[in-house]
Amino acid sequence: MTQISEAPARTRAQISDRTLRKDRWWQAPVVVVTLLTIWLTYATVRVFTGHWYYVPQYHYLTPFYSPCVNGECLPEASTLGRWIPAVPPVIPYAFVSLVFVLGFRLSCYYYRRAYYRSFWQSPPSCAVREPHARYTGETRFPLIVQNLHRYFFYVVLAISLLNTWDAAQAFRGPDGNFGFGLGSLIMLANVILLWCYTLSCHSCRHITGGRLKHFSKHPVRYWIWTKVSWLNARHMQLAWITLGTLMLTDLYIMLVASGAISDPRIFN
Ligand code: FES
Repeated sequence: MTQISEAPARTRAQISDRTLRKDRWWQAPVVVVTLLTIWLTYATVRVFTGHWYYVPQYHYLTPFYSPCVNGECLPEASTLGRWIPAVPPVIPYAFVSLVFVLGFRLSCYYYRRAYYRSFWQSPPSCAVREPHARYTGETRFPLIVQNLHRYFFYVVLAISLLNTWDAAQAFRGPDGNFGFGLGSLIMLANVILLWCYTLSCHSCRHITGGRLKHFSKHPVRYWIWTKVSWLNARHMQLAWITLGTLMLTDLYIMLVASGAISDPRIFN
C-alpha cells in the first residue's frame, strides 16, 4: 500500500524559464492592450470634448452624452430635462451614467480576465509566469470592489432603457414626425447589441436561473435562463462588438453634428 509521507509543497513550480510554451501566447495580451488603449483614448477625448454630441435636426444623441441632464446640455438634447446644474468642463456631461457604465465594464468578468492578463500580466497567459511575487486575488481593497458587479448590472439595466429611448428619438424626422436615416439605424443596431451584452452578463444568468433546485417547477425562469445562457456563451464577443458599436455610433454622430458628412435619409 502506498503511503504519502508528507504534504506536497505549497509553492510554485521551480522552473527557471518564464514559460515552456513555444506558441505565440503573447499575441492575445498585445492585441487586448492595443485595442483597449485605442478605445479608452478615443472615449476619454470624446466625453470631455463638450460639442458635436447631438444632431438637432434628426434627434441623434451620442451614447457618450446620454442622459444629457446637466445645465450645459443643449435644451433639445435634454429630453429628460436638465435637473443638474452646469458642470465644469473637467466633468463629463453624462457623468451620472458614465460612472456606472464604467463600473459595469471594469468589473465585468470577461474584461477582468482581459485586463488582468494584458495590462497587469497576472498572469499574461496560461502556464506563463507572472512578474508579481504575491497574489491576493480580489479579497481585499481595491479589487474587492469588483464584487459590486451585480449592483452595477441593475443600474445599467436602467441606463439601457435610456439608450433605448434615445434610439426611439432618432426615428423622428426634422418635422418631429416619424422618419429615419442611416444614423437612426446605427443607433438602433447599437442599442440592440448593448442589450445583448447587458443581458449576457454572468450576474444576469445567476439572477434568472441561480439558486433554483428544480427548473421544472419554474418554467418561466428556466426559459429566460436558457436564453440568457445562449447570450452568455457569446459574452466575450459581445463585449468587443459593443465597444466597436459605441465608438462607431459616437463617431458617426460627431461627423454629422460637425457637418463633416450628411446623414442619408431613408424616410422623412
Ligand atoms: Fe460581463 Fe457582467 S460579466 S457584464
